[in-house]
Amino acid sequence: MEINILGICGSPIKGGNAEVFLKEALKAAESGGSVKTELIPLAGKDIRDCRHCNWCVTKQEEGKFCAQNDDMAEIFPRILKADALLLATPVYIGRLSGYLACFTDRLRVFTHGKVYRGKLRNKVGGALAVGWQRGGGIETATFSIVLAFLTLEMIPVAPDFGLGSPFGATGLSSQGGTGKFDRTDKLGVLKDEFGIRGAHSLGKRVTEVTKLLKAGG
Ligand SMILES: Cc1cc2nc3c(=O)[nH]c(=O)nc-3n(C[C@H](O)[C@H](O)[C@H](O)COP(=O)(O)O)c2cc1C
Repeated sequence: MEINILGICGSPIKGGNAEVFLKEALKAAESGGSVKTELIPLAGKDIRDCRHCNWCVTKQEEGKFCAQNDDMAEIFPRILKADALLLATPVYIGRLSGYLACFTDRLRVFTHGKVYRGKLRNKVGGALAVGWQRGGGIETATFSIVLAFLTLEMIPVAPDFGLGSPFGATGLSSQGGTGKFDRTDKLGVLKDEFGIRGAHSLGKRVTEVTKLLKAGG
């Protein structure tokens, strides 16, 4: 039995800290075998905000999720196909990024859509966030992603106890979250041992729970 895990990165920086952090989680998720992963960076994509036009409520059709014609159109079917989602964000002003907030708001097509409502039910979700400073809002960021999973009737999972935050994987891109940094190294999160351990644990946990659910039918 093969499972599909889709990673979405809500950073405007391509190949930045949030993206490499997410890659670590996806790598660990694959280590369990029979796992296909895909990573979609939202950087450079046209992801507009939900306009609350309610088109999806009354007019949604098979293959047409939303009234807006932006890059979400090609992402919606990939979400539908996935058994699990890993959503990663940089911490912005103590919460998730605007990019990822636009993305999660657009998932309303899966709670209210005429055709696709309830279609994310029982898919597994894992949250990841990378911040600059310790205590700078990283838990609010992961928790806001967990709230999206709960709203979508998904099943949120977290790193094993003691290996990360209870709300998801949390990484710091400055040294120890102190604000000190090495100018030659733009990917400081890879040096955050606790953070990386959490990302690996989250990836493995997502695979474990997704396989259990899929086997249980
Ligand atoms: C607009 C903006 C707001 C930010 N706000 C916070 C914050 O509140 N707390 C924090 O720890 N880091 C904050 N940061 C720092 C980023 O979270 C951090 O640099 C992160 O590693 C960026 O990830 P990236 O490399 O994927 O872009 C902010 C950065 C930007 C651009």
